[in-house]
Amino acid sequence: MKKVIVTGGAGFIGSHTVVELAAAGYAPVIVDDLRNSEERALTGLAALLGRAPVVHRVDCGDEQAMREVLEAEGEVHGVIHFAADKAVGESVAHPTKYYRNNIGSLAVLLELMRQRGIRSMVFSSSCTVYGEPKELPVDETAPDRNAASPYGFTKVACEQLLRDEVSASPMLKAVLLRYFNPIGAHPSGLIGELPRGVPNNLVPYVSQAAAGLRDRLIIHGADYDTADGTCVRDYIHVVDLAKAHVTALDWMGQRPAPLCEAFNLGTGRGNSVLEVVRTFEAVNGVPVPHAIGPRRAGDVESVFADTRRSAEVLGWRARLTLADALRDAWNWQRRLG
Ligand code: NAD
Ligand code: WQD
Repeated sequence: MKKVIVTGGAGFIGSHTVVELAAAGYAPVIVDDLRNSEERALTGLAALLGRAPVVHRVDCGDEQAMREVLEAEGEVHGVIHFAADKAVGESVAHPTKYYRNNIGSLAVLLELMRQRGIRSMVFSSSCTVYGEPKELPVDETAPDRNAASPYGFTKVACEQLLRDEVSASPMLKAVLLRYFNPIGAHPSGLIGELPRGVPNNLVPYVSQAAAGLRDRLIIHGADYDTADGTCVRDYIHVVDLAKAHVTALDWMGQRPAPLCEAFNLGTGRGNSVLEVVRTFEAVNGVPVPHAIGPRRAGDVESVFADTRRSAEVLGWRARLTLADALRDAWNWQRRLG
């Protein structure tokens, strides 16, 4: 079986990807120091995999520790690099933390991949590289210098580093996956998102408000130039997203190096904040207490993906609906208590 290093594999998107990799016949090897995840993600993974996942609890930006991991694992087919800090607001307050971890860890991994002859990397990028797009839906050729936060700029810089490294190492293949808004949880309810403290993101907040853990959701502005005045995003089920990583690895495996390609991962549909709230209430039969508040600084009005390239070139498209994702998010929230 082909071994795949999954940095950040105990996190939200990484854990779902580990499940899909194993189902597709790859052997996932998690590298995660659990700085933003919990033991229960590994317990959930063990239940889903039918065995304990292989985990190295190390900082993937620690070159010596990472070298030892790769030496211990022997032949490695590729690396999926999820590990990063991802809180936009925190990145504004602590930019060095973000530049150091997000860019530093990628640099370490690429250095070691070059030394060890590991040829394939799948990188977690984000629609944040598009900032406020001029045209919708946004395609992969849109200018990528608009990222509105230090976090966003780390993704722009990492993408550039990957392009430069592929130019320098003709044996290397890289796929840059630009996620739109990942939501939901595994339908089993065994793994899902584990936000720390007060959630920043919409769907975890909606779930906690429905569960009575928060008084009410504050909708950040209803005076945008959209159908109902609230912001529009492309919400994608995390299981669809996870499957795209397997598709990307398979796709790269059939192509020669050098290769560096970016793909949008979204549904291609935009939904407003109010649509998310109403769909959650309808599909789960629970009220979501909410009120309209002021706009949130830095929010983009509307963004959703042009998915033609990922469908036509990669052969991947989202299958699950917003309702599926919100049902699975609520199922997960109820298990969390
Ligand atoms: P997450 O925080 O749930 O998972 C990231 C995991 O990486 C965590 O388990 C954390 O402990 C680990 N980690 C971080 N730095 C590490 C390091 N140096 N060494 C070892 N482990 C480390 O986040 P997620 O939502 O699963 O996001 C995964 C990736 O996808 C990130 O790169 C993120 O920027 C990107 N992304 C996320 C979203 C989103 O909305 N969730 C959207 C676009 C892109
Ligand atoms: C969605 C919508 C909010 C919370 C962020 C990052 C982006 C990417 C995905 C990593 C917005 C509204 C939210 C609340 C609300 N991450 N909202 N009340 O901002 O689209 O993207 O996560 O790459 O880089 O910026 O996601 O879930 O925070 O917000 O009204 O309590 O929900 O204003 O319109 P966002 P989000």
